[in-house]
This record gives sequence, C-alpha cells and structure tokens, in this order.
Amino acid sequence: MPAKERISMSSARTAQSNTRAVLAKLFSPIANDLKKVDHLLQSELRHSDPIIDEITQHAFRLGGKRLRPALLLLSAQMAGEVNDSHRILAAVVEMVHTATLVHDDVLDEATLRRHEDTINARWNNKTSILLGDFLFSHAFYLASTLETTMGCRTIGQATNIVCAGELRQTAASGDFDLTQESYFQIIDAKTAELTACCCKLGAYYANANEDLIRQLEVYGRHLGIAFQIADDLLDLEGEEIQTGKSLGTDLMHLKMTLPLIRLRDQLSIREQCELKQLIAAPNPENHLQILNWLESSDAIQNARNEARHHTYLASEALAKTPNNPAKESLLELTNVVSQRDS
Ligand code: IPE
Ligand code: IPE
Ligand code: MG
Ligand code: MG
Repeated sequence: MPAKERISMSSARTAQSNTRAVLAKLFSPIANDLKKVDHLLQSELRHSDPIIDEITQHAFRLGGKRLRPALLLLSAQMAGEVNDSHRILAAVVEMVHTATLVHDDVLDEATLRRHEDTINARWNNKTSILLGDFLFSHAFYLASTLETTMGCRTIGQATNIVCAGELRQTAASGDFDLTQESYFQIIDAKTAELTACCCKLGAYYANANEDLIRQLEVYGRHLGIAFQIADDLLDLEGEEIQTGKSLGTDLMHLKMTLPLIRLRDQLSIREQCELKQLIAAPNPENHLQILNWLESSDAIQNARNEARHHTYLASEALAKTPNNPAKESLLELTNVVSQRDS
C-alpha cells in the first residue's frame, strides 16, 4: 500500500495504540519537563532556510514515544530533582535517537515512520544522510553547552556504540547462522546502550551516589534489550497502523532476529535448509510461510519470555533503591515495554 494511504489510515487510528495511552500515564511525574524538552527540540531545530526548516520539522512531527528523554527525566526525578542540564540532555538524546532512525530508514528502505512518510520516502536518501548528520552534530553542539563535559562525553561514547551496532547488524545481513550471542551483542549496542546512557545521566546530573547511578544504568540496559526484542516481534507480527512505521523490514533485509534464531535452533538439518531458502528469498508469500512456521512452534513465545526475563532483570536492578513515584513509573514501564504494540 502506498505510504500516503497508510498515513491517512494510520493517523486516524493512532489512538488505538494502547502503549501510547499507558506511556502518557507513566510519564505524568515528568509531564511538564517533557513538554519543556519538546519546546527545546522545536526551538533548537528551527532554521532560517525554509527548506531545512521543513525537513527538520517533518522529522519531529507527531513525535515518537519520547522514551529516551522520559527515561532520563524519570531517572533524574527518582534520584533527586530535574534541572536545566537534564532538560538539555533529554533533548540531546532524542536528537541522537531521531538521527539514528533517519539513517536506519535508509538502511531498511522504510517508507513509514512516526505515522508519516520517512525522510527518504518524501525526499530521498541523500536528504536522509544529511539530515541525520545535521541532527547528530546539533546534538553534540547542544551537549557541549553544559558546564561539565561528562554528558557530552557519555552520549558521544553511547552514540558511537549505537553506530557500531548498526554496522555489525549490516554486516550480519544474510547470515542465517547468526548466533544468539551475536544477536544480543547487536541489540545491546544498537538499542540498549542509549537507554542505559539516559538512565545513567539522569542519575548523575541529579548528584546521585555511584550505586544508584550504576543501578539505574543496569535498569536502562535490560529495559533496552527487552524493548528491542519486543520491537523485533512487532516487525514480524505487528500492525503498521499501530506502530506507525514500516514493518517486515527485518525479513526483507535478511536479518536474523531472536524468534527466527530460536526456531532455527529447534529444527532438523533438512528443515533448517528449507527455512534458509525461505529467508533467502524475501517476498510476502515466504514471509507468511515463515510466520506460520514460527506460530506453530514455541519460538515467538520463547522470544517473549526472553524479553520478560530482561524486564524482570531491569526491575531487580531497582530492588534496593528508595521508593518514590518516578521509581513506580520506571517499574511499571518494564511491563509496558515487553507487551508494547507501538
Ligand atoms: C525505534 O525506537 C527504534 C528502536 C530502537 C526499536 P522507538 O520505538 O522508541 O521510536 P520512536 O521514537 O517512538 O519513534
Ligand atoms: C534500529 O532497529 C535501532 C536503531 C538504533 C536505529 P530497528 O531497525 O529494529 O528499528 P525500527 O524497527 O526501524 O524502528
Ligand atoms: Mg529499522
Ligand atoms: Mg524494528
């Protein structure tokens, strides 16, 4: 279906996403700060050149779930008080995240993102590459305006690891034998590194002690791993109308994600060859066959259990920390992440 038709259908039904409604509730302790972060993002990215302005505004229109700024702000509030540095860092991590998505949509040849045409679909790949660069560089400029360098340095390291994860994933495309270990290393780098970094920085800039900074970082890492496993499940069997982004792109680009790895490892050699042939020739018919195969096995449930295990580890990381409303939200978030529909 052309992106335009999908957009009008999906925009009309965006409200059906349970995840978004639940997240709005969980983010209520930091709702005012999140609004300020959104304003900061808007004002930072306005540009006097109308062409550049239109492109940057498009990338942030409708907005994503704002998970990373929310993690940073909730961690800050859990550890102490939200301050100006947190709001700046929250805008920075959302800029970095959006830049990775703009580039990722080129890699995945995706046409729909945040219920809108992707930058590559509305403009072209060149525009996506340059917009990604524009957002990355603005993010680091903004982070460097803080009085201390720790935030900029930490986000710089995390972004570098995210990019390395995407590089490893690209190199692994078509590798039917990808090990579970390599899969986890890839998702740890491309997704969990940034969520861990957000929680760490929230605590650090609230003057938390080293234990609490570490506990929140561990929480953020396990949450990120669960988030990506759930994302990979959505890519196989989710609804574009709810996620607002192109799905099925993992199979299209021969990416072995956890359900496929778990299925492969249960099959006989002959069946493995059959599955490999289906994966090697991505088309809607083969996608359906793979899905049927997955559903007749316990591979999907297996991957879901793995996501739940990581959300359990995330909440365990906070077990010995003081209780407060922000912590409640972070704990509740672990349930939402593994069952998300968008
Ligand atoms: C998408 O992240 C990329 C992944 C790490 C799976 P989100 O699902 O948080 O994207 P937005 O920001 O809500 O659009
Ligand atoms: C990308 O993972 C994660 C990034 C670091 C950008 P995906 O390719 O699964 O993300 P979506 O599904 O396109 O949002
Ligand atoms: Mg993608
Ligand atoms: Mg995905």
